[in-house]
Amino acid sequence: MKEKIKELFKSRFGTDGVMYASAGRINLIGEHTDYNGGFVFPGAIDKYIMAQININGTDRVRVYSADLDDYCEFGLREEDAPQQQWARYIFGVCREVIKRGFTVKGFDTVFAGNVPLGAGLSSSAALESCYAFALNDLFNDNKIEKFELALIGQSTEHNYCGVNCGIMDQFASVFGKKDCLMRLDCRSLEYKYYPFKADGYKLVLLDSKVKHELVDSPYNKRRASCEHVAKTLGVETLRDADMAMLEAAKDQVSEEDYMRARYVIGEKQRVLDVCDALERGDFETVGRCMYETHHGLSKDYEVSCEELDYLNDIARECGVTGSRIMGGGFGGCTINLVKNELYDNFIATAKAKFNEKYGHEPVVYPVIISDGAHKCEA
Ligand code: GLA
Repeated sequence: MKEKIKELFKSRFGTDGVMYASAGRINLIGEHTDYNGGFVFPGAIDKYIMAQININGTDRVRVYSADLDDYCEFGLREEDAPQQQWARYIFGVCREVIKRGFTVKGFDTVFAGNVPLGAGLSSSAALESCYAFALNDLFNDNKIEKFELALIGQSTEHNYCGVNCGIMDQFASVFGKKDCLMRLDCRSLEYKYYPFKADGYKLVLLDSKVKHELVDSPYNKRRASCEHVAKTLGVETLRDADMAMLEAAKDQVSEEDYMRARYVIGEKQRVLDVCDALERGDFETVGRCMYETHHGLSKDYEVSCEELDYLNDIARECGVTGSRIMGGGFGGCTINLVKNELYDNFIATAKAKFNEKYGHEPVVYPVIISDGAHKCEA
């Protein structure tokens, strides 16, 4: 991918530049908790967006998307927003850097990636983090704090892409570290690295290939439900609520909002339980929590779909230790914690059964926990 980007850059712009990369992410547990002030437990993976960039001495940005074979040029003022949705991610990052009082000038860039789109692996956060990191390095002597880089990506989603997301994806993409998961407290923003050594187990993603499109999806509606319940309970976010408080206010909120909040409150505790279990090497508990999360996301939060529920059922039948839908939902992947000796049978069974029912196999991605945003070696 690096060589392809370099060649395309040279032939299009006639110069060289500097290469940056940032990663997609997985999340072991803690779904839809970030915007509720709760905990998440993600890690960056070995799927990247890479961008070659060169300062061009003008006030315009010229971008070529190698994967889409599409070109876009835009200025750096608010009214210069491009039409193409993909280019708005880069424009948004530029604007959010400028709004914070930092510098962005014109640049030429070519980017490509191998983070599967719409699979719940945060290709958009990888794109945002890649450019936020690059603009910090190229124009700002790396004076922008790392956390601010993640917030720049999140604000890009909010202000230029229509997704009212939490901070998890951009955090994972910026802070990701090889072989480590990270527990982030999304209220205090404290985080801790957990070396992830699951001896005897594999983590694997099964991509249903059902499209997941968070813009205009019920994602923003889920968030609104949670905020509504928090307001009714008189707390800032559902982080500060417990089941007793929710039960006491049951008749003041809709049945639907009650179910959403019930899931979020349960999930908050599960992340902590999983962290403790991991430190003890207790993978059975980790796995049980993952199944509970799936159940909650499917029945209470209602962000699963038939295909993902089916993959979850197959995992259970094959004796997989833990399995659940991962990411925002409405399609995408399940994440599975599988004992080594059961792995081959699970993959073969999932492929065959899914294919029989839906006419195509799920795509298998073994998870390799990797570094997040970085400058590539020349
Ligand atoms: C998407 C959002 C994240 C998070 C997850 C669900 O990936 O971008 O902020 O809310 O969904 O956990």
